[in-house]
Amino acid sequence: MTELLERLSSGDEVYKPDNATMSVATVKDYESVYRESVKDPQKFWSDRAKELDWFKPWDKVLDWNYPWAKWFVNGKFNICHNALDRHVKNGLGGKIAFYWVGEQGDKKQITYSQLLTEVRKFSNVLKKLGVGKGDKVTVYMPRIFQQIITLLACARIGAVHSVVYSGFSSGALKERIVAAGSKVIVTADGGFYKGKITELKKIADEIKGECPTVEHVVVVRHANSFTEFTRGDLDWDELMREAKDDCECEVMDSEDPLFILYTSGTTGKPKGVLHVQGGYAVGVYTTVKWVFDMKQEDVFWCTADAGWITGHSYIVYGPLLNGATSVIYEGAPTTPDPGRFWSIIEDLKVTIFYTAPTAIRLLMKSGDKWPAKYNLSSLRLLGTVGEPINPEAWLWYRKVTGEKPIMDTWWQTETGMTMITPMPCVPLKPGSATKPFPGIIADIVDEKGNAVPINKGGYLVIRNPWPSMMRTVYNDPDRYLKYWNTIPNVYMAGDVAHSDKDGYFWIMGRSDDVIKVSGYRLGSAEIESALVSHPSVAESAVIGKPDAVRGEVIKVFVILREGQTPSEELKEALKKHVRTEIGPIAIPSEIEFVTWLPKTRSGKIMRRVLKAKELGLPVGDTSTLED
Ligand code: PRX
Repeated sequence: MTELLERLSSGDEVYKPDNATMSVATVKDYESVYRESVKDPQKFWSDRAKELDWFKPWDKVLDWNYPWAKWFVNGKFNICHNALDRHVKNGLGGKIAFYWVGEQGDKKQITYSQLLTEVRKFSNVLKKLGVGKGDKVTVYMPRIFQQIITLLACARIGAVHSVVYSGFSSGALKERIVAAGSKVIVTADGGFYKGKITELKKIADEIKGECPTVEHVVVVRHANSFTEFTRGDLDWDELMREAKDDCECEVMDSEDPLFILYTSGTTGKPKGVLHVQGGYAVGVYTTVKWVFDMKQEDVFWCTADAGWITGHSYIVYGPLLNGATSVIYEGAPTTPDPGRFWSIIEDLKVTIFYTAPTAIRLLMKSGDKWPAKYNLSSLRLLGTVGEPINPEAWLWYRKVTGEKPIMDTWWQTETGMTMITPMPCVPLKPGSATKPFPGIIADIVDEKGNAVPINKGGYLVIRNPWPSMMRTVYNDPDRYLKYWNTIPNVYMAGDVAHSDKDGYFWIMGRSDDVIKVSGYRLGSAEIESALVSHPSVAESAVIGKPDAVRGEVIKVFVILREGQTPSEELKEALKKHVRTEIGPIAIPSEIEFVTWLPKTRSGKIMRRVLKAKELGLPVGDTSTLED
């Protein structure tokens, strides 16, 4: 193992794709493409953008008024046209856009032309409900075709979607609906996960009355779970039966908003990361094509949920813009057994498989016998995303899938597309996301912005704008500015990283109070405010604690209100409370009752001191700690 690790880490492993039709087929190509791309990023990106259809070309590639960017200025565009109509027009109508596999083993498929028809119909439904350009639609759905149809229909008519992951509960859902000011909620009676049904409509009902902007709730009947329809509720099937299938794409400006996606930051309030039609499309189109070397005959499976950015970019928009065939699986990786992922790969002859390190570690724990049962020879390329992957998991993933190259892609909700990532031709080192994508200038710096020496940890930053960067934080431009003015002249990602002698990037984790639990992004402050909303809690502090499978788990320190007594029952009650306020993904693994929390003199909880103590590490500078 050590020898293999050393060999791999030396960068001797090179994957040469067969019949490479891509622009970047060798390391030399990568190096020269990269060099040229950063000399003139505008040329690089406009060459990529020309591969898509524009109703009217742009006048100017980039308008960069630091830190506000406009890409493809005055270009007229529609991402839905490019994802569907363009392919149907070019003869791909009969091609399968998506295979769907349910947790109970049921299967479906949908072609590009069928998807286009459904999207046109649902676009008309939305219009009939009074949804137009710029209106917000909250999508709270399981992984089903209707989820994708809803997103594309919004894009088609210029409405702005705001997807809330179906693992969030009523508190988080309400906060996101109210913040976006959504006119319509699209949901389902329920979704399947680990053999259970999550009753989404019921959860939405709990808070519907507290969301004054919501006029209608459209409900897909999917899980056969009983759903009472009340005022404002509409049945998807009924609406679709009556809808016409002729809806032209709205002509959008490149810079018109496409979606808002709420994500966790350092304060309790989630941030509405806003992406736009044109630049976002160019970024995700290009990265699917180059990083995953996407070919017409590929079957691509990204195991994420469209509730997160990975699903937006690499289930919905990126693959469709490439005319690819993708897989959607509604369910857990270990249901009914740990062979589930592998059996789907065998069955659908998946060629490119993109998943999270947590899923790999979970399957690794179940042993080699599960992947060994299946024929995985269709696979040619692998990917990971969402959190650092440890070399052991990387090697196992590679071994059980027949030594295929792994694209360890680093990026964020805010970046829209993969930013530091291998391409199939770049030599790999297990645990490194390798090098920046063409057009991207990444660096590692100290808090003043000075580059740090190799092998020394520092803040991961991006030095130049890129087309799929978020344009703002919705209704909170100051929070957007913070990314670009915390360290002078650069975008600060919020991660710590180091680089090595070969210029490879090694992402070490977050530098702030964002926690990654099984790859899900959560904020310490968000969980703390959920806890203090419980009547027994006076104060709380939340830290992420390393975990061998889930990357991090949530540990909570709680000071109880006077008169409250610590007990196991209270711990359970607090877990339940967090579940209702945020969702099952935020349930703490550990709760400790304390009588004191380390704070600065200005009253800010010093989570880093708690974390250091918890992990038995030096607590570092405590000069600001109150007495
Ligand atoms: O800490 C980094 C981690 O995930 C964060 C972004 O989370 P989110 O916005 O939810 O997007 C996740 C999917 C793109 C980053 O700041 N992260 C993401 N990819 C990697 C990673 N950490 C290490 N290696 C990665 N490949």
